[in-house]
Amino acid sequence: MKFQMHGRVLLLSLLLTSGAAFAADGAPKTAPATAPAPQAQRPGHAGIASANFLATNAGFEVLAKGGNAFDAAVAVASTLSVVEPESSGIGGGFMATLHIAKTGENVFIDARETAPMAVNPKDYLNPDGTPNRDAALKGPLSAGIPGEPAGLVLLAKKFGKLPLSVSLAPAIRTARDGFKPDPRLLHSIAEEQKNLERWPASVAKYLPGGKPPVAGEIWRDPDQARTWELIAQQGDAGFYRGETAQKLVDAVRAAGGNWTLEDLANYRAKERTPITIDYQGYKIVTAPPPSSGGVAIAEILNILRGYDLAKMDPAHRAHYIIEAMRRAFRDHNDYLGDPDFVKMPLDMLLSPYYADGLRQSILADQATPSSMLPHGPAHDPGMHTTHFSIIDKDGNMVGITSTVNYILGSTFVAKGTGVLLNDEMDDFALVPNKPNVYGLLGSKANAPVGGKRMLSSMSPSLVVGKDRSAVIGSPGGSTIITQVLEGILHFIDGQSAQQIVADKRFHHQFLPDEVFVEDGVFDAATSEQLRKMGYTLKPREPWGFMNVVTWDHRDNKLDAASDPRRPSGLGKVE
Ligand code: DON
Repeated sequence: MKFQMHGRVLLLSLLLTSGAAFAADGAPKTAPATAPAPQAQRPGHAGIASANFLATNAGFEVLAKGGNAFDAAVAVASTLSVVEPESSGIGGGFMATLHIAKTGENVFIDARETAPMAVNPKDYLNPDGTPNRDAALKGPLSAGIPGEPAGLVLLAKKFGKLPLSVSLAPAIRTARDGFKPDPRLLHSIAEEQKNLERWPASVAKYLPGGKPPVAGEIWRDPDQARTWELIAQQGDAGFYRGETAQKLVDAVRAAGGNWTLEDLANYRAKERTPITIDYQGYKIVTAPPPSSGGVAIAEILNILRGYDLAKMDPAHRAHYIIEAMRRAFRDHNDYLGDPDFVKMPLDMLLSPYYADGLRQSILADQATPSSMLPHGPAHDPGMHTTHFSIIDKDGNMVGITSTVNYILGSTFVAKGTGVLLNDEMDDFALVPNKPNVYGLLGSKANAPVGGKRMLSSMSPSLVVGKDRSAVIGSPGGSTIITQVLEGILHFIDGQSAQQIVADKRFHHQFLPDEVFVEDGVFDAATSEQLRKMGYTLKPREPWGFMNVVTWDHRDNKLDAASDPRRPSGLGKVE
């Protein structure tokens, strides 16, 4: 049989390429950050695209006070914590990719959550040894130590121009004075009502009078306002020590969790070297581990650079992109984790020679079944996490993807703090070879260990070219990686910010061995051709919430666009 023969070639090729690179593997390193030359020009105006108009406007408010893109990012992220808590917030974490116009430097901020030191994998198993999905996704055991406050303090103090009292002011005001929740937040609260009802402080915050808030009514969060105020006054200490830390630990432990004051006091947001890759004259600056996103995007682009996608019919273009996605996600599952804990063969995964080997295993007109390797389960792309993009008048650029993980995180609010805790522990491979909520499988590299960061798919990315640059990112669990990849390819094809966010999407993540397709992404003839090549096309509800800002250096024009799939977003240029 034709395919079996090729399959053996594929396996052999994978083994040979992996083996060679393992032998050569030293300490994990990311590709050198060859920073683009500082832009000679300045746009002279700013663009912000975020998932909520109140957050976009908070960013502009802080720019008007003399802030730069990084101060604006602090305002946008903290306001999202108040108005879009179903997606991200003070009890979660984020990843940020920054371009500093003055020096041309690119920086990555890792404000990812960590496992508490007392983490015990047995807590995520039922007595019969099956995975306990409730412990992984709801309540205090599902929560990692938050990174968002430390990350924002680092962003403000090292890269911003304004004090936190100014950049956090819009969030504090919005939480204290109140706002009208948008339909998406109301829907999220209704959807999670049963879980919220399990914890009194969650009821007090999200179910006033025992019911979800009503559309059109003002909703306030004075506890969260107070916690942000403490952070504005004391920096990290306002959250990770003293009053707030004590309240967080007391609440978590009273509800069966295992956090300690030390876990909080020891948390640090980290600066890391971003992954940088050249592709068709553009420099892509993206997320390193503990995100898998940048490694996967680089691996996919390295494979794709061997093809002339522009000259292909849509079915073959999709075929080669899907095969590259499949191979990158296989490596995601097998190798990646927190760089402070695991040795990863990044030199191999980022090497063009490794990509050459993988490319050779791709057949011209035929899908490669993932079952040539292991097999896997269903997947829910999820819609809870947020991304925003900013370019300021001086050409500073920042993309931040921020999350509490699943819808309203753990649904657990720590009494007296207004802090809704994340459920990021599910991003660890809590039970080996069992899928997380995004259908992702993990290996030992992503096993839970005290102090370790769980692997993420968050991929805030910069695309820096001679004539045009862009900040691109989106939520969507494992689909983040393929959305950002498709966004990068569309930008390089010359598309505008508005087109990029609206483009229809497809996704393959190795397992399950299916291509998720948004209605309209392929016409009937292309779908038929892909089926003939061996692909299973699986229709999915639209996914993602992409927010993009582009900069055309030729006329210094900025464009900002928010995903039309979600009406609450706002992309604005001023
Ligand atoms: O870090 C991650 O990869 C996930 N916690 C992100 C979750 C997400 O994007 C949810 N959906 N939109």
